[in-house]
Amino acid sequence: MSTDVTGADVTGPTAADLVRADRVAGRLYTDPELFELEMTRIFERAWVWVAHTSELPGPGTFKSTHVGRQPVIVTRDRKGEIRTLLNRCRHRGASVCEKPQGRANGFTCPYHAWSYGLDGALRGVPYPDGYEGVLEKRDLSLRRLRTESYGGMVFATLDPDAEPLETFLGDARLWIDRFMKQGGGYPVKVLGRHRFTFRGNWKIQLENTTDGYHFPIVHRSWMASVDAETADMMSFMTDPTAVTHDLGHGHSVMQMVPAHSDLDADDGSEPLQARFDGLVEELSATLDPAAVRKVVRAMHGTGFNLNLFPNVSLSAAFFRVLRPVAVDETVIEHVAIGPDGPPELDAVNRARLRIHEHFQGPFGFGTPDDAEGWDRVQRGAAAAPDMPILINRGSAREKADADGHPTAHVTDETGMRAAYGRWKEMMGDD
Ligand code: FES
Ligand SMILES: [Fe+2]
Repeated sequence: MSTDVTGADVTGPTAADLVRADRVAGRLYTDPELFELEMTRIFERAWVWVAHTSELPGPGTFKSTHVGRQPVIVTRDRKGEIRTLLNRCRHRGASVCEKPQGRANGFTCPYHAWSYGLDGALRGVPYPDGYEGVLEKRDLSLRRLRTESYGGMVFATLDPDAEPLETFLGDARLWIDRFMKQGGGYPVKVLGRHRFTFRGNWKIQLENTTDGYHFPIVHRSWMASVDAETADMMSFMTDPTAVTHDLGHGHSVMQMVPAHSDLDADDGSEPLQARFDGLVEELSATLDPAAVRKVVRAMHGTGFNLNLFPNVSLSAAFFRVLRPVAVDETVIEHVAIGPDGPPELDAVNRARLRIHEHFQGPFGFGTPDDAEGWDRVQRGAAAAPDMPILINRGSAREKADADGHPTAHVTDETGMRAAYGRWKEMMGDD
């Protein structure tokens, strides 16, 4: 059975009409009014990823980031609790922190020096006599966002009535647990990050992290630049066991290397890649063979991309975080991760950073090619906003897996259908 999607424009009176089961309107990338609605209906209601716990290693540590377009500071307060505070002074609205990350006792607004604690409480107001009888400090904390964590991933929401984070993540939790196994027996920590902007809509990026179909086309030069074992590992186009599951709530997981999905499931038959021979030798001086095998087998991460709607993907061996700036402007952060263990693992993390740079770095063989594709989608889609963007690949071969998740081949557009299903639900919520 086939559905004709060739000439059918996607229009309708409401935002929800612009998303169908097999196609979405091109204007989803170009319409500024839709973008404004997305900011209030999606980014001010959903749980948005803001940090990894390793970025806040002790009381007083903080990072600045955004929830949608709202600037926030994520802090660890004196009691060790992680807080997300709106980066906006309660006096006349100035931002109280402009540092990307650091350690502080609190935040003092540069305009009139109102000072706030790490928990957001207003502590001091200069020349307080003018406020006699008109100001209660306890009523003027920095606005606190609900903040919850799972598996080291910290999320915040502007919606006081949002469902609990664990409900929001649902069946994606198992995959977060699996992703963190790439610590090879140690917790995972952030090694570094780089940030870039592309002139396109945030959903083009969201789609890309669940787009297995583009891999051998766009990443031909990366495939040609790596050793044969790595190229073979990423040859999933005709592997029937490589699948994508729709996990519900807009989340999905694309398994490119199914043998690495659960790194604890290791029968010892898979040889370690020859490219890591030197590393194995170095580590073997201090670690036992089982520990060496565990960290080296996890060098490329878990071989799956877990897409969490709306703003973060746990992608193979890094986090990819998106921030919508305008309908045609998105900031992407690539956050490299590795095991947080004894100093002998420094060599592992150096090697992981080199692999990361090779694909994801600004001069890498992967991301710059992706970015060219995203720019072109934005330019092309502007040509005819009502023409459909197709998301129907593999819909006729999609089946429920043992857990009831719609599942199709890793090259199919199951993950995009999952994300747009959630988009439609949230955008249609009047
Ligand atoms: S705006 Fe912050 S102290 Fe005045
Ligand atoms: Fe790509």
